[in-house]
Amino acid sequence: MKLLVIFIVHAICIPCFSFDVPGKDLPLTLDYYKSTCPTVFDVVKKEMECMVKEDPRNAAILIRLHFHDCFVQGCDGSVLLDETETFQGEKKASPNINSLKGYKIVDRIKNIIESECPVVVSCADLLTISARDATMLVGGPYWDVPVGRKDSKTAGYEFATSNIPTPEEGLISIISKFHNQGLSVEDMVALSGAHTIGKAQCRNFRSRIYGDFHLTSALNPVSETYLASLREICPASSGEGGSNVTAMDNVTPDLFDNSIYHTLMRGEGLLNSDQEMYTSMFGIQTRRIVSKYGGSGGFNFFEQFSKSMVKMGNILNSESFVDGEVRRSCRFVNT
Ligand code: HEM
Repeated sequence: MKLLVIFIVHAICIPCFSFDVPGKDLPLTLDYYKSTCPTVFDVVKKEMECMVKEDPRNAAILIRLHFHDCFVQGCDGSVLLDETETFQGEKKASPNINSLKGYKIVDRIKNIIESECPVVVSCADLLTISARDATMLVGGPYWDVPVGRKDSKTAGYEFATSNIPTPEEGLISIISKFHNQGLSVEDMVALSGAHTIGKAQCRNFRSRIYGDFHLTSALNPVSETYLASLREICPASSGEGGSNVTAMDNVTPDLFDNSIYHTLMRGEGLLNSDQEMYTSMFGIQTRRIVSKYGGSGGFNFFEQFSKSMVKMGNILNSESFVDGEVRRSCRFVNT
């Protein structure tokens, strides 16, 4: 029922939340597949509708998969490659193992596209388009997706370990990881807003709920009950319940809105890294941005999220761009 409401609200509101974003610069273009695979956007949308209707978490899963792809040698589908004798796959890197999902959804979309336009649409593009549709299908903004990426012929295990931020990392370090990808503090705060949907495992928020949660949320008496419920899901002992999950936005967990920023302003962020954006002594700028995105009915957040997703999607692997390919299967380099 909730999902039906989201779909209806969205159908009415697409024009309100659709942003014309800058940065659609070459070499990616909006009409790259216009003559070679004109149905690609429709196919992805239809499949994503199906997947999100089946389980709204699939939206979160695809958005995160795209992020983890782009932060490792650019958006080149490298995260989708299975391990081979010649390279270690990114799937087993520490931020991804037992955590990143959605590979089968990409396979499914790729199979349909291959039957319609064989070896034309890259896996990197399919993932980028899927992430946009995922956002929109759970109530988030719409933006045009520039396409024309190529798939890499190798994966970057070490980069996956070093480039992707962890929830225990300090704010400055996370800012510098975004900076290294050409993304600003504003981009970082906006993109982290994706945590308005999806879930995290106990092992990723244990230190937070047995750490400074009660301090950051002290002014809000209701937080005590919330904290107690989190501790029930996630026991203190590191041997127990590490893979138990809970929503990062406990108010509207399946809706892409700006309520994650309200959560941070109440001091109830689930991940240390998220809460730091509002509470850290080094976070004067991020705190101001969190407050901005928490206001204006989410308009500022939606606008910046759209721009930042295009910017993140434009992180290209220059090597793949020249030397890359369109994989037949997203899991393997073409033979
Ligand atoms: C700023 C640094 C970030 C850190 C430290 C971080 C960390 C995490 C962690 C620890 C989880 C939970 C994973 C698990 O427990 O299995 C998670 C989930 C998620 N992240 Fe991030 N993240 C960051 C930025 C981003 C960005 C930029 C995006 C997308 C634009 C994103 C999208 C998501 C989504 C949608 C989920 C939920 C996935 C699911 O439900 O399976 N995150 N993130």
